[in-house]
Amino acid sequence: MFAYRSLSADDPKILEHFLALTPEDRRCRFHGLTNDERIIHYCAEMMRREAHLVGCLEGERLVGLIEIVPCNEGAERRGEVGITVAPDRRDRGIGHALVQHALDFAANHGVPLVFGYLPDNVRIPRIVHDLGGKVNRLSAQAELAAPTPTAFSLCLEAIDDLGLFAADMLGFWRKAILAPLAEPAPAKPTPTKAT
Ligand SMILES: CC(C)(COP(=O)(O)OP(=O)(O)OC[C@H]1O[C@@H](n2cnc3c(N)ncnc32)[C@H](O)[C@@H]1OP(=O)(O)O)[C@@H](O)C(=O)NCCC(=O)NCCS
Repeated sequence: MFAYRSLSADDPKILEHFLALTPEDRRCRFHGLTNDERIIHYCAEMMRREAHLVGCLEGERLVGLIEIVPCNEGAERRGEVGITVAPDRRDRGIGHALVQHALDFAANHGVPLVFGYLPDNVRIPRIVHDLGGKVNRLSAQAELAAPTPTAFSLCLEAIDDLGLFAADMLGFWRKAILAPLAEPAPAKPTPTKAT
């Protein structure tokens, strides 16, 4: 079963997810040859970019990730999108679902979503077209207008964020409460016989 929730930029699952991508996926996602060092640097810079991140989790494994980076293009504000789905989980609708989650963010923050993709990428134009966006194959750019915010878009984004809060609480509970309980008690010193 897949679960979708917001992620914090320092979540180690993100690096794990990117490092598992094939060279071809890395080329599509980062638009060039991307070695492990570049990915490590990219993740370290994530906090600075103030990206909004939504992940698709299958149990503890991050199988999909969408990153929306709000930025200014002239007078216009827009959200630049980067998206990846694990190779063994593609064509099951995860890409569409992640973009739907990004659309809630776009609605609530009034930013259109812009996808810069490589011309040989067949899935991004398909997803954007399916969700009612515009695709310009010549410039290899696809765009989804910001929908009107509704009570639903506000609730759905809040639910994604609640998932992050719950995961943080669970992590704290495991680390601070359960882990010390599981640690073996320190060995009692053996009394030495008085001579
Ligand atoms: C792009 C990506 C995120 C899509 O994820 P996904 O989970 O496979 O996406 P979905 O399953 O929701 O949709 C894929 C669509 O592409 C279609 N598709 C797959 N192969 C295709 C092909 N050869 N030609 C045309 N369409 C194709 C699928 O049929 C599906 O469309 P449909 O639901 O209308 O039938 C994933 O392929 C990926 O991570 N690629 C590498 C990184 C990348 O390219 N990122 C984009 C840079 S911004």
